[in-house]
Amino acid sequence: MSAVGPQNPNAAGPASLQERSLRSVWHPCTQMKVHERLPLLALARGEGAWLIETGGQRLLDGISSWWVNLFGHANARINQAIAEQLHILEHAMLAGCTHEPVVQLSERLSALTGGVLGHCFYGSDGASAVEIALKMSHHAWRNVGHPEKCEFVCVRGDYHGESLGALGVTDVPIFRDVYHALLRAAHVVASPDARLAAPGESARGPAHRAAAQVEQLFAERAPHIAALIIEPLVQCASGMVMHDPQFVREVRALCDAYGVHLIADEIAVGCGRSGTFFACEQAGVWPDFLCLSKGISGGYLPLSVVLTRTAIYEKFYSEEIARAFLHSHSYTGNPLACRAALATLDIFRDDAVLEKNRARGAYLDGLLAALREDPRVEHLRRCGMIWAFDVRETGQTGRAHDSASLSFAQRYFACARERGLLLRPIGRTVYLMPPYILSEDEMQYLARGALGALDATLGS
Ligand SMILES: Cc1ncc(COP(=O)(O)O)c(C=O)c1O
Repeated sequence: MSAVGPQNPNAAGPASLQERSLRSVWHPCTQMKVHERLPLLALARGEGAWLIETGGQRLLDGISSWWVNLFGHANARINQAIAEQLHILEHAMLAGCTHEPVVQLSERLSALTGGVLGHCFYGSDGASAVEIALKMSHHAWRNVGHPEKCEFVCVRGDYHGESLGALGVTDVPIFRDVYHALLRAAHVVASPDARLAAPGESARGPAHRAAAQVEQLFAERAPHIAALIIEPLVQCASGMVMHDPQFVREVRALCDAYGVHLIADEIAVGCGRSGTFFACEQAGVWPDFLCLSKGISGGYLPLSVVLTRTAIYEKFYSEEIARAFLHSHSYTGNPLACRAALATLDIFRDDAVLEKNRARGAYLDGLLAALREDPRVEHLRRCGMIWAFDVRETGQTGRAHDSASLSFAQRYFACARERGLLLRPIGRTVYLMPPYILSEDEMQYLARGALGALDATLGS
């Protein structure tokens, strides 16, 4: 094995897609050496909820391709919208120019908040939306004479992206610690994690305790704090950690009382993932900034957006250039991505998606019910279209794969793949985050495969 990755074992024949990829592509979120033991999935195409490997194996995409794909791969309606737009305007700069898709998308997103979040600023991916919200918050305070409000608060276990600003408000050690010296420290408050409830206590207990810690911090530091950023209802990347909406309500009230902005990062939980279109709806409050990405383009194209209140927008409106928000990205408001997003919103509107997802949720709950009694797992939980459970440490290493060198998550991934499923646990948390199009047969397949992969991984 060479230091640059596996070589083609059949030197005379053509290299496989995996081999070519390992020689030329640096894959994200990956220790590349692991692919000496764990093969890459070489994908030929996608079709509805399925990804099809070059060898023909079909994998049900149980995690919506990193939580982005809402209505399946190669969705006919989104395809058509993008194809139409391709012949109209593929891209134009958004400074000094505008176009129908970006205007319509902004109008429709704002309308979904009842007009409370009246202005949309566009980025490309999730991390860029977080950067925008953080900078905008500080700049808004600066524009009203409070340049000292430049600190941020995040929640234990929060994930907001990998760029330096976003990583600065991320509290997932594996992503953050190596870059510690490059980051601006944020205040970190306790997680409202429902699993922290004492016996007999409801999920509101930890929600309230976490909010109390926010209050304590605000009482000391609020004059220096620009914003609190949260992942409302589910802290996804740290293992689908769910909390009671009461946390969101309480921190909204605290932000109002102490003069701190609330940033809701709905990059993962927005667009219906939590059960409502926006997760904040379940708390009955709106943030000052709401970040969306991932599902907003149906999982097709990089697009992110920060929705903000008109009152904040007005703080930048002036004759003075330095008061303006001069942030930009070349592909801001890309028309193709906006058309994909408009087609996505059309599907939500025309197909009663949120209502049908409630029925899907109940059906899949039934299929996973056996896990409630399974001594190998704990904390089976669901929020909208996210299911998760934690697999206890047993001391067993499993026998289905070369377990000496692979983690639980990697072994589970391999066992799921053998069962025709794409699932990637986070640590020992197995989660399902499927697209919103699964039939009952597909849900049975998903549940059967997820449970079968658990048995195989634990070697039972
Ligand atoms: C809550 C949350 N915020 C931000 C991001 C960063 O988004 P991106 O990977 O598109 O930069 C993610 C990505 O998983 C996320 O889950």
